[in-house]
Amino acid sequence: MHVAEAFREAYGAAPHGVWHAPGRVNLIGEHTDYNDGLVLPFAVPWGVSAAVSPRADGVLRLLSVQMPGGPLTIADPGEAEGWARYAAGVVWALREAGHPVGGADVVIDGDLPRGAGLSSSAALEVAVALALDELYGLGLSRMELAVLARRAENDFAGVPSGIMDQAASALGEEGRALLLDCRSLAGRTVPLDLAAHGLTLLIIDTGVRHELADGRYATRRAECERAAKRLGVESLRDVTDLAGALGVLTGAERDRVQHVVTENHRVEAVVGLLRAGAVPEIGALLNASHLSLRDEFAVSCPELDVAVEAAVRGRARGARMTGGGFGGSAIALVPQDREQSVCESVSAAYAERGWRPPRFLAATPSAGARRLA
Ligand code: GLA
Repeated sequence: MHVAEAFREAYGAAPHGVWHAPGRVNLIGEHTDYNDGLVLPFAVPWGVSAAVSPRADGVLRLLSVQMPGGPLTIADPGEAEGWARYAAGVVWALREAGHPVGGADVVIDGDLPRGAGLSSSAALEVAVALALDELYGLGLSRMELAVLARRAENDFAGVPSGIMDQAASALGEEGRALLLDCRSLAGRTVPLDLAAHGLTLLIIDTGVRHELADGRYATRRAECERAAKRLGVESLRDVTDLAGALGVLTGAERDRVQHVVTENHRVEAVVGLLRAGAVPEIGALLNASHLSLRDEFAVSCPELDVAVEAAVRGRARGARMTGGGFGGSAIALVPQDREQSVCESVSAAYAERGWRPPRFLAATPSAGARRLA
């Protein structure tokens, strides 16, 4: 195992263990997690591995195989910068919650495609959290680890994300998607056997990440909170009378509510179809989700729209942007015998516009975080 060898080279001894946490792709339920809504992500076959040994002195030493330079020595988590903040943030969050976590020597290795919006930061956080949980005998549940990992991301790294990414990484299961109620944090897995239906879930990595993406994410959160306040509810999950709400609101707030409320219904509809074994039929709901994210929630971009339209033209059953938006990846549900025509259709649409060719990856629902060695 490469990461264990890198550990031995860096610190002169074998690691106590090696842990792995996957990235995620979201099937449906976008921009609903921070509105107390429903999401349906699954863990992907790629992720982050962490070789870790405990240290008695409270110091954190961190090395990433992907980054230049030797190990960083961090006496206090607050000193960490850049990618190291995600790992140091987990130590901080665990200690903040009162868990007796000492130091650690850590080496990180990852195989998630960069910038594709597949949650490499959540994978890093969850891998480190699981390692520290085992090494320090904390006995935390998967959901508790996900919540603490999210805390590291929100309150330490300063990224205002919801709980979806960390939960999918911590609780994913092979062959299944995770239906998570982001209000109660109740999670249930739902069978998602694509191959049995002759289907592939293609990830189309647009290769673009638009500037201001994080600022616009925070703006969307604020718009949702304002709308909830105006409607006199705690969160948009509480909107049961959509027509009534739309009658009261105007402008951006009206559009955002329209998306969030209908997206929660689409998650429920997709889960119903999956449970009924009607997997190909979810395509229409993926398409509807994309239109809603593009027109009502306004988080798409030309590269995502073109990928989705060209995939559907190439006869995908359905396609949508996935993740936060403003770049990153789209997904397309594709009958296996049409995989090539879909890829060609999207590639041709990109070439016509003079855009860099997109990357295609086939994602199967994979196991969540685990110990490898
Ligand atoms: C990002 C965030 C998630 C979620 C999605 C949108 O990926 O990290 O928490 O809000 O955007 O669904």
